[in-house]
Amino acid sequence: MTKGQEKKHNRNLEDMRDLHRSPLQAHNRTQADLFRRKVDVEELVEDLVEFDELADLKSPSEYANLLKDFLSIRVFSWLRHYLASRFGARHPFPDYTTQSDDNGVYRLDKSAAGDEEIRIGLAGDWASGVYEADVVGRMMRKFQPHFTIHLGDTYFVGTQQEIEENFFSVVKWPLGSRGSFAVNGNHEMYAKGKAYFEYLLPRLGMRGAERTFQGQKASYFCLENDHWRIIALDTAYHALGIPIVEKLSRANCTLTGAQRRWLKDEVFKTDDKRGVIFLSHHQYFSAFETAYSRPGIQLARILDRPVLWIWAHEHRMAVYKKGQVGDGMEVYGRCIGHGGMPVEIGYPPDKRSGRDFLVAYDDRRSRFADGHPVGYNGFANMTVKGDEVTIDYRDIENQSMLSETWVANNATGQIRGIDIQLKQPELTLVRGLTEAIS
Ligand SMILES: [Fe+2]
Ligand SMILES: [Fe+2]
Repeated sequence: MTKGQEKKHNRNLEDMRDLHRSPLQAHNRTQADLFRRKVDVEELVEDLVEFDELADLKSPSEYANLLKDFLSIRVFSWLRHYLASRFGARHPFPDYTTQSDDNGVYRLDKSAAGDEEIRIGLAGDWASGVYEADVVGRMMRKFQPHFTIHLGDTYFVGTQQEIEENFFSVVKWPLGSRGSFAVNGNHEMYAKGKAYFEYLLPRLGMRGAERTFQGQKASYFCLENDHWRIIALDTAYHALGIPIVEKLSRANCTLTGAQRRWLKDEVFKTDDKRGVIFLSHHQYFSAFETAYSRPGIQLARILDRPVLWIWAHEHRMAVYKKGQVGDGMEVYGRCIGHGGMPVEIGYPPDKRSGRDFLVAYDDRRSRFADGHPVGYNGFANMTVKGDEVTIDYRDIENQSMLSETWVANNATGQIRGIDIQLKQPELTLVRGLTEAIS
């Protein structure tokens, strides 16, 4: 990375380190970011260190202005934004019942023959605005995706300015030739989802005449062909705990009633036996972090067959074999939250819910950020052709790490892994790779 490349971006990977899942801290980071852009802190520190060169020092009034900016941006605005966003009402949850011509279910393919190859680009925790997110976006574009789907988290709190900069201007989300969608994440909800629902979603969705985006009408949707359904869910709308004591009060990411009704009444209203791939921000289980299993338990009451489920939220890449939490659904879990944040490495899988299901994860060190080792950012390229789906997990250098192929039987509802290949021999394998598709 050259100096020039770093300069273009307002943030770098170092700024994103140690971001705990706390709305209070996330709002503080947003304000720190705004303050840093207004005030050249490095120059200020240099001025103060070289205090003997009095001629270079700022005048008392300039320091007074700095103090004013600090108090205004870092302290008062932080508290104001935090309090307003945490105690105010969430953005209402949009659903499809108010849409006369849109039920949130869209065709992947255009040809009736059903043998068209459809390419879908996926990345999670990507919208950080850093150089690495920019590179990942460019690598995703090389796949020439028909559709792209962001699996959530616009940093730090998904304000309108952050959405503008991290998706459309400083860093650009790779838009699909037929459509682009964004899943809701906890960071979007730190600002009550307002900018996510009002500013991001209207600029996405399916592309209509003259390739204009029709707007994504809700935070959940389904893309389908005759054999597969790729269903994106909003696990973030209920992802926040009680204000101020968020760290102590844990939300369970329960799926909204509107989504469950949509799944029952719209998506699975007939006894449909297509293969299912769920996409969401939060993990159903994890070998590394606390999991949010509630949606998987809710889904088991709607669908009673094993599915593939690709999630994000954890800033790493990991692949699991078929796993189940309590009486929740049976899931082949895949984590791709390594889109644009410092990738967490060096944490051995521990006692968590998914430890017994973990098959492979990427623990390679890419570089040091702020003196701490970070892993490789990356994304996934999915190809759907008829009854076959291939998912290719790639790193920021656009090198394939792992690839898997599945076949769906739309008469029985069963999905079957027919091929899995390790492309990056340095991935950490916990058990035999074929267990991931068995
Ligand atoms: Fe995240
Ligand atoms: Fe997240």
